[in-house]
Amino acid sequence: MKKILLIPLLLFAVFSMAACGDGSEEPFTPEQSEQPENPGGGDGSDDNPDTPTPGGNGRYLVLYASRTSNTERVAQLIRTTLDCDILEVEPEVDYDSDYNAMLERAQEELAAIRRGNYPSVKTSMESFDGYDIVFVGYPIWYGSMATPMQAFLHSHASKLAGKRIALFATSGSSGISTSVDEARSLCPDATIIDRTLLLTSSGLSQMATRVTAWLEEIGASREEPETPGETSMKVKISVGDRTITATMEDNAAGRDFLSRLPLEVTLNDYNNTTEKIFYPDPALTTEGVARGCAPTPGDITIYAPWGNVAIFCKSWSHSNELIKIGRIDGNDIEALTVTGDITVKIERE
Ligand SMILES: Cc1cc2nc3c(=O)[nH]c(=O)nc-3n(C[C@H](O)[C@H](O)[C@H](O)COP(=O)(O)O)c2cc1C
Repeated sequence: MKKILLIPLLLFAVFSMAACGDGSEEPFTPEQSEQPENPGGGDGSDDNPDTPTPGGNGRYLVLYASRTSNTERVAQLIRTTLDCDILEVEPEVDYDSDYNAMLERAQEELAAIRRGNYPSVKTSMESFDGYDIVFVGYPIWYGSMATPMQAFLHSHASKLAGKRIALFATSGSSGISTSVDEARSLCPDATIIDRTLLLTSSGLSQMATRVTAWLEEIGASREEPETPGETSMKVKISVGDRTITATMEDNAAGRDFLSRLPLEVTLNDYNNTTEKIFYPDPALTTEGVARGCAPTPGDITIYAPWGNVAIFCKSWSHSNELIKIGRIDGNDIEALTVTGDITVKIERE
């Protein structure tokens, strides 16, 4: 076992030295002196699921595992930024405070997971209903997702089916891609949002800007939850002295569109008034939004490869690259079907 440990130990010595070498960085959490955090949420029984600490905004949940608080700090920042619920995923057996013992244990648990045996975790959730996005954060261990979070995702995979999961991780220097693959195979029926956040030891000092930028990229904000119902997704489009209304889809792209309003844009005529198009800058998020649409007049879409918004004036054949984000109410597209480019003002109704 000692030989097995030697290489990783040398690697982590390098991680730690790299982190300490930059005087402008916050210190990388020293392994040897850290004590495991005091468990707060779990009760050791799946019969008594845990309740996340609630925030004001019930649309998001932040789940995290963390032994030396790096991932916890990121998790708490996401929680504060979004004012949302948070829950720590804790191992049944407390983390070892001794670094070498922890390395050995992590290797054993990762090997056991490869054989299909997951370590026990204290934390359990009854349901993820009501959450738009479940944030899942963890440290990278030997290139993989830390074992407690793997175990939690494994035992909650069916409850997470259909949910959008946003992954974030911290590491000494390793990448996140292996753990993204692990998340996809642990939760095959969830949508793992492509854009992930990794903070290596040298990047922890930029945590605030990186977290803010990432949340914007994936369309998560602390805005008050939309009141479900048609009016909250309604927009009005003014063309000259005419006004028509549209209803946006209640998905990440539709909400991102709403967040850009009011907007005054020139709609370019495309393909002999088949579509009126414009290019939002930056492009609207399409993370986790279903693709594929056979547009009919009045459909508001995104053409994913180009990132343009296209309002259809004529029907067109099905494309897997079209994403429907809304529709002009009552097929009232006459004001748009003039030849040539037109300037419109789009506002929330
Ligand atoms: C068991 C173990 C394995 C680790 N493996 C890696 C690794 O493969 N690559 C890496 O860059 N960092 C590795 N690290 C460092 C952690 O990923 C890093 O310190 C992380 O920020 C710890 O997060 P935490 O404070 O939330 O526990 C490892 C740490 C431990 C304890």
